[in-house]
Amino acid sequence: MWSKNISFNEGQLHLSGISATKLANDFGTPAFFVDEEDFKERALSWDQALQSEFGTNAGTVYYAAKAFISVAVAKWIKECGIGIDVCTGGELAVALAGGIDPKKIEVHGNNKSVQEIDRAVSAGVKVIVMDSLHEIERVATIARSHGVVQGVMLRLTPGIQAHTHESISTAHEDVKFGFSIASGAAWSAIEIVLQHPELDLRGFHSHIGSQIFGTDSFELAADLLIALLAKYRDAYGVELPELDLGGGYGIAYLPEDETLLPAEVLPALGRAVTAACAKNNLAIPRISIEPGRAIVGPSTFTLYEVGTTKKVILEDGNTRHYISVDGGMSDNIRPSLYDAEYHAIIAQRNSSQASITSRVVGKHCETGDIVIKDINLPSDICPGDLIAIPATGAYGRSMASNYNHVPRPPVIAVKDGKARVIVRRENEEDLLALDVKE
Ligand code: LLP
Repeated sequence: MWSKNISFNEGQLHLSGISATKLANDFGTPAFFVDEEDFKERALSWDQALQSEFGTNAGTVYYAAKAFISVAVAKWIKECGIGIDVCTGGELAVALAGGIDPKKIEVHGNNKSVQEIDRAVSAGVKVIVMDSLHEIERVATIARSHGVVQGVMLRLTPGIQAHTHESISTAHEDVKFGFSIASGAAWSAIEIVLQHPELDLRGFHSHIGSQIFGTDSFELAADLLIALLAKYRDAYGVELPELDLGGGYGIAYLPEDETLLPAEVLPALGRAVTAACAKNNLAIPRISIEPGRAIVGPSTFTLYEVGTTKKVILEDGNTRHYISVDGGMSDNIRPSLYDAEYHAIIAQRNSSQASITSRVVGKHCETGDIVIKDINLPSDICPGDLIAIPATGAYGRSMASNYNHVPRPPVIAVKDGKARVIVRRENEEDLLALDVKE
């Protein structure tokens, strides 16, 4: 839940030896603080687990940029030697600005624009994961116009109901993503790809959802995709070399939560892939994965300052204790969007007071602007206290908005006792910059 270099001393949270008070004084609140070493160790641990499970059949760990990307983070990815999954032209631009080798870039998206495809093809990305029949034609046309053969994969929906929030479950039939295996759409897409000499079909991809626990659904997806690889071999006499099993590995947000670790995931995938390939008499393809949240999520915490507190008498006579912080749904939309739960602590002091059930809310103009619905926090919490929320690295800053014209918070990387801004705080000038002056 907390990253590796977090420690506590007399009620003060420290990241790599720097106290929460100093971080707040130096960088302001709200702010995201990322533990750089923790991020890199997690990235490397997925890579090492993939290599040790699959050996020469190990493909690539593609970090899912959508969880959080910046030029600095792209450089960390490069340093770790892993790949990156981008799903828009914007994410591609940041990856390239960070110096990532295009041969380590995989491009996703269910509605890539012609411009985005053109940019990806001319940059020479390793693979474009195709999501619709329209896109097959577009990628082929663009590859032809550049005189290249583009590596492609097909995103498939294996028809699995992964156990997670509906909005982040992606492999059942009624989704906008990919080609359904069960309905035959996947097979038709294969036949169409093969009619285009400028497309080099490398294999299949599936991403079954996000914040998933247990490995069963991933194993089932591998089994279904490998059955299709066998059908392909039977039809065309050659084996496709690659399989990408996506990301989605769950992390701990609350103290009682568990984390799905590389040491559990990769052996389970290894067993499923080996069994399915043996059953179908196939050579094991190169296996790739795409963790996002599992790399950046636990590496980061958000620091807020309490602005006001309020006791509200409810209709049933009970009291609700509201604690308002200086951010909210503009820097963490996940509680409003997915009922996501978070943990929080007072970050700069101990309290001897009893805890009371409290609701941590933001500063936005709506009741649904909740950071934490119910949490026990010391009853003496007051304006000026700092609140730290762990595990906000994934889909926090990357889904941040300017709702109510609130400037988006900065991201500060901390390493070896030194803190540096990697994404600066927005300011009023930024907020006004897009308005056309008349
Ligand atoms: N690969 C593909 C094709 C994806 O669509 C995603 C996430 C990932 C990999 C990485 O999944 P991860 O390992 O991070 O779970 N905003 C939601 C999560 C949406 C995930 C979208 N796709 C949230 O805050 O929970």
